[in-house]
Amino acid sequence: MPKVLFKQSGVEVEWDGSHESLLELAEDNGLDLDFGCRMGNCTACQQPVVKGEVEYPNGHTGEPDEGNALLCCSVPRGDIEIDA
Ligand code: FES
Repeated sequence: MPKVLFKQSGVEVEWDGSHESLLELAEDNGLDLDFGCRMGNCTACQQPVVKGEVEYPNGHTGEPDEGNALLCCSVPRGDIEIDA
């Protein structure tokens, strides 16, 4: 299972597939992160990806800044570190 590290929060958890998105995983582990639409449109949920990659199973219309991921609609592709 991919390991997900939320670096600033010091939270490391395994991605076991039971969450819809990295944002849900973060919230279930006590992180209080910004979000808006939760549909990949507004980019309010973007966070820097320090290591690794995400994928967007259902796509997205908003474009995150370079090096950032939209957590509301992404899942990890292998181990990942997020600066949140
Ligand atoms: S909350 Fe709007 S793009 Fe993620």
